[in-house]
Amino acid sequence: MKGSAGALGYNPCLGAAWGPHKVSTLMALDFTGRVAIVTGAGGGLGRLHALALAARGARVMVNDFGGARDGTGGSVSAAQAVADEITAAGGQALAHGASVTDLAAVEDMVAKTVAAWGRVDILVNNAGILRDKSFSKMSVEDFRAVVDVHLMGAVHCCKAVWPHMIAQNHGRIVMTTSSSGLFGNFGQSNYGAAKMALVGLMQTLSIEGAKYDIRVNCLAPTAATRMTEGLLPPEVLAVLQPEAVVPALLVLASADAPNRAIACAGAGTYEAAHVTLTKGVHLGSGADVPERLAEAWEQVSDRSGDSVPASGAAQGTNEVGQALAKRR
Ligand code: NAI
Repeated sequence: MKGSAGALGYNPCLGAAWGPHKVSTLMALDFTGRVAIVTGAGGGLGRLHALALAARGARVMVNDFGGARDGTGGSVSAAQAVADEITAAGGQALAHGASVTDLAAVEDMVAKTVAAWGRVDILVNNAGILRDKSFSKMSVEDFRAVVDVHLMGAVHCCKAVWPHMIAQNHGRIVMTTSSSGLFGNFGQSNYGAAKMALVGLMQTLSIEGAKYDIRVNCLAPTAATRMTEGLLPPEVLAVLQPEAVVPALLVLASADAPNRAIACAGAGTYEAAHVTLTKGVHLGSGADVPERLAEAWEQVSDRSGDSVPASGAAQGTNEVGQALAKRR
């Protein structure tokens, strides 16, 4: 193992509180010299991300507003406890109690990070709340509160670190999305919409950041935390060790991270999700296009030969290309 990862007494593979690991011949993911901000890191997955980054050499700003699962309440003590845990193990950490919904507080957190350590290499947008209800029973207020934390919280943090990452010509941003956003989940219309919005934010920031070596990715975890307590049966929660999500975060935050990926992780299995485009069918114009489209729907949605577009332009390119080809 190179770097200072082993020096903290954590398992450098996965962070604290994770059992012995097999000695690997693989190149270690090393974060020595890197500065990371992890939001919502006072507990759950964020805490483990912060511990693992610190164990591998990163200096970590531990953020958490310290509230309840639904976003009420708040105190800096949760973030401070995790920062203390890192410091006690020989790492470097600071705590900040900003709510990610408060742009001025987020700017203060980023300013304090840069003042302390001179840079910010990694942003993990992990803070989140839940206010589950079926859509018919959900208030607009509960919808907005969830969008505010997940989407606008990530926007605030990205906005505050972006100029530093551009100036450094280096940055790694991880958005925490969810299978509820990617694929839907009963009772989570607010949460799912906010989580899928993060995929949209990632798609464009990854394009805009590429020339500055800012890589932006999404992580969709499945883990037993207070967020999933009571939502999943105990025997399922037992295999969903939150530590098993951390390797995916480390890869997405590393120097050799992919760009524009949606990584999924849970219980030791790692997948990638994609937003794809089918080849489609050119139907041209005419009064009967609606009827022909209804008839051709199976072919339109046929996934053979589908692609993962490199940008939104791919859809128009395909459509115009097929239209022009028909004219030749
Ligand atoms: P958690 O509830 O333990 O952690 C969320 C943390 O975010 C809490 O410590 C909370 O105080 C903090 N937080 C909430 N609002 C905040 C705000 N406005 N400003 C700063 N901090 C705030 O839950 P967990 O499971 O660790 O969640 C972490 C992330 O992973 C969340 O974004 C969640 O939506 C996401 N996720 C979790 C899944 C799971 O299976 N546990 C599944 C899919 C996504």
